[in-house]
Amino acid sequence: MSFKTIEWIDDRVIMIDQRKLPLEESYVECNDHISVAEAIRTMVIRGAPAIGVAAAMGIALGGQQIKSKDFPGFFKELEEICEVMRQTRPTAVNLFWAIERMKKLCRNNRKAKIGKIKELLKEEALKILEEDEQINRQIGIKGRELIEDGDTILTHCNAGALATAGYGTALGVIRAAYEQGKRIEVYADETRPVLQGARLTTWELNKIGIPVILITDSMAAYFMKKGKIKLVIVGADRITRNGDVANKIGTYGVAVLARHHKIPFYVAAPVSTFDFSMTSGEKIPIEEREGREVIQIFDQQIAPDGVRVMNPAFDVTSNRYITAIITEKGIARPPYGKSLRKLLKD
Ligand code: MRU
Repeated sequence: MSFKTIEWIDDRVIMIDQRKLPLEESYVECNDHISVAEAIRTMVIRGAPAIGVAAAMGIALGGQQIKSKDFPGFFKELEEICEVMRQTRPTAVNLFWAIERMKKLCRNNRKAKIGKIKELLKEEALKILEEDEQINRQIGIKGRELIEDGDTILTHCNAGALATAGYGTALGVIRAAYEQGKRIEVYADETRPVLQGARLTTWELNKIGIPVILITDSMAAYFMKKGKIKLVIVGADRITRNGDVANKIGTYGVAVLARHHKIPFYVAAPVSTFDFSMTSGEKIPIEEREGREVIQIFDQQIAPDGVRVMNPAFDVTSNRYITAIITEKGIARPPYGKSLRKLLKD
């Protein structure tokens, strides 16, 4: 594909501005960790794995600018940078996973010169970027067997190259099947209120050449009932030990509909999206975003002045609605308590 979601060039972090797609393909340049954090918060970059990569790059960038010359001082400043990253978005666990990985690298190299630690931070962020694309390709290889020639697939939100370092998770599985020569058609939910499906998934699939039909979120049941959807594949922001999955608001509804219509419902995600500190999805923090996203479409107001609004950005789908979870290590099926533990051990 002809774009990069996120790149490190000459001690700057460059991201495609996902707020402007598909109308404008422009890039945001971040020169310090504060601007990277702002880009995550305002969704210049979004999608769980991409947020993790951005956080790692933000920490590496901030690390280059630390003034302390001794390790305790350096680490204290680094922790402050990590805290800024931690405050950006609460639901996608990849963000916290990347922060911990960067901190651990630092701790493991406490005896090294500060200049060396700065270099290592940069290398680690680039490693996370490269690994993520490779992992997505693995998810694609593992998951493509679930797709048959001629399938029509529903997806929700955007779990493609834009949501990762490249290739995508849910869209990666679809892409891998397509690259095998399977004829596929994708139904993309528009995904109100931020419209990741309408704006980003259709844009990406058009670029690859995979046929896509855009539908509003409320049309999914209609097309399932008509037998138009053979399977559903979505990404994830956090998966708990029992296989509960937090993903974009509306995912839970799609999963319940899929169960009712006896359609397989698959989740594709890297191991960095697992949160084994949580036994179930109930305690996953759900981001509440500003009401403006619901009241306005772009700058057009669509509701009366002063109307009360709720805007949870994610929901949790219980494990019982999930047919299988596709990871780079293989495919897990219920009961997830057992299958996920085994998968992660192997
Ligand atoms: O609010 P967003 O756009 O960051 O939400 C993204 C999603 O919910 C994706 O489905 C999820 O992060 C998986 S991306 C591979």
